[in-house]
Amino acid sequence: MSLQAPVTVLQHPVVARDLTILRDRETGISQFRAAMHRISTILAYTALMDLPLRSRPIETPVRETEGFDINTEIIVVPILRAGLSLVDAILNFVPEAKVGHLGMYRDEKTHQPVDYYSKLPSEIQDGLVLLVDPMLATGGSADDAITFLKEKGAHQIRFISLISAPEGLERIRKHHPEVSLITASIDEKLNDNAFIVPGLGDAGDRYFGTL
Ligand code: PRP
Repeated sequence: MSLQAPVTVLQHPVVARDLTILRDRETGISQFRAAMHRISTILAYTALMDLPLRSRPIETPVRETEGFDINTEIIVVPILRAGLSLVDAILNFVPEAKVGHLGMYRDEKTHQPVDYYSKLPSEIQDGLVLLVDPMLATGGSADDAITFLKEKGAHQIRFISLISAPEGLERIRKHHPEVSLITASIDEKLNDNAFIVPGLGDAGDRYFGTL
């Protein structure tokens, strides 16, 4: 019997405030980016709560004490392009993390993901992989990205999304039950165009200013 990894939804007043900024169509690009960075840090904080530590003795200016180092490689893998919007804040939080890139876009007519680029560090095989994308809509992109990472030897994968549709969550839980999911919101549904409702529009376009 395979265990189902958890789905964690952020619960914090600051996150509720920032989600509102992100959802509001009147929000400009600089405010959008700032809110995205704040939430990305909290998503990373939550996703990395149980990181393994290795202790080592250190000396403070006052006396000896026990210190700790993180005892695993962390690899952040944004799904290009929109996933890049989460990376800077995550690297501020864990500056030792490696970064892999996975290029994938969703065909606007078929809604199917199309792979176009990948460059991954070798550490993905033994380390903790944080796959990041602000939107989990149908789940097609994340599903394909996780399958791709597994084929490349990744064993420990966590998926961070800002906003998730129930349909996408269901798909990942079904196809990749061992992957834990960390999100700031589970929205109501997908519309006929496979957009998350109420959502925030296209995160990549709003973050990069390509509306
Ligand atoms: C968006 C989003 C995800 C994908 C989600 O990317 O960033 O990658 O769609 O949809 P899915 O769950 O139905 O696969 P988009 O294709 O807009 O490309 P972008 O990253 O260049 O904005």
